[in-house]
Amino acid sequence: MRPTGPREPWEGRRVVLGVTGGIAAYKVVQVARDLTRLGAEVDVVMSRAAREFVRPLSFEGVTGRPVLTEAFSAEGAAVHIRLGREADAVCVAPATADLLARAAQGRSNDLLTTTLLVARCPVLLCPAMNDRMWAHPAVLDNARRCRDLGYVLVGPDSGPLAVGEADGPGRLSEPHEIVARVGRALGADGPLAGRRVLVTAGPTREPIDPVRYVGNRSSGRMGFAIAESAWLAGAQVTLVTGPSALDDPAGVETIRVDTGRQMFDAVRPRVGEADVVVYAAAVADFRPADPAAEKLKRREMEGPPTVAFAENPDIARETLGLRREGAVAVGFALETSDLLARAEAKRIEKGFDLLVANDATEAGAGFEVETNRVTLLEAGREPLPLPILPKPIVADRILARAAALLRSGVGSS
Ligand code: CTP
Repeated sequence: MRPTGPREPWEGRRVVLGVTGGIAAYKVVQVARDLTRLGAEVDVVMSRAAREFVRPLSFEGVTGRPVLTEAFSAEGAAVHIRLGREADAVCVAPATADLLARAAQGRSNDLLTTTLLVARCPVLLCPAMNDRMWAHPAVLDNARRCRDLGYVLVGPDSGPLAVGEADGPGRLSEPHEIVARVGRALGADGPLAGRRVLVTAGPTREPIDPVRYVGNRSSGRMGFAIAESAWLAGAQVTLVTGPSALDDPAGVETIRVDTGRQMFDAVRPRVGEADVVVYAAAVADFRPADPAAEKLKRREMEGPPTVAFAENPDIARETLGLRREGAVAVGFALETSDLLARAEAKRIEKGFDLLVANDATEAGAGFEVETNRVTLLEAGREPLPLPILPKPIVADRILARAAALLRSGVGSS
């Protein structure tokens, strides 16, 4: 989750970021910075022990707001009441074993724990501690109790710890994961809350032999951004992607495949469950008809080989009819000339409710870049050209239209 500038669901929301005393506190400066860049107003509350690890000034520098430390400060004794009442989300990172114990018991012996008792908004706890501490039954018990109280636990992850290699979980979740989880908490009642979204993404690789393939330049960025954006808007999301270097988006069920046929097999049984299906993958239309079982050897060949192609399934065309009634289908059209006319023809021919038209030749749009410039096409509406924008923001715009179509019942059956 890379910050793109102010973005829903963070924009204009109030987040209390609690920091307790663990070495991972330094990573949380990044969380504070990213949340702020995404447009949230971040009030950092530090425990006394946290201030041994990171100075409040670091947080003040990235949030532009004073760090709160004292339950009874000059600002007035009721600061915890104000914080807890006004917060749209509270996130504690790192949450130490001691914080978990106090939260589990409903104690209120500092500003952060009293704020937890006042808050009625989503509360996320991101534990971080030595793996042996996390594995202690008392800690696991407290974590369970916190879950029972309705707190969302984020992590801990497995991986290297401050002291030595760990055998089990204990490591603080990555800052981008924490920021994404806060977003999901803020967007839980967003425009796609309770909806299921299926997204295809990335290129496909069609083997010529065991080491060579026919592919294309798609990075998967646009489709991954759509999957993440749908999750942030409250949806349950499945992403079926061809080979992509990108990490699985937070919260999204990600299914990785290689070929167009594998993508088809993964998509077909899932289309019927989805409320929105987004076909963002750049699927190879043709595959080598008869891939060699062994590597083709130059020295054993007489000149360049001829590769015969067979047709791949058109995943969109063959699965659109499997949609449930009212489900919305979103397609992409990537063209190198005559963009709008060709895209509109594609929308009608394939039966998409919404089509995202993309010019592959334009700088700052299309493959392998972080930004995109697209035009949205819908039946009965003027084409809507969007300015050049970061792909996550383009994704938000596409899904906002898809959600509107879903609400209006326009999805064809
Ligand atoms: N698509 C698909 N399966 C394919 C090819 C395309 O699901 N085998 C989907 C894409 O994900 C996209 C839309 O169909 O949403 C249009 O893809 P595009 O590659 O632009 O067009 P094609 O249908 O392949 O047509 P052409 O090659 O003539 O441009």
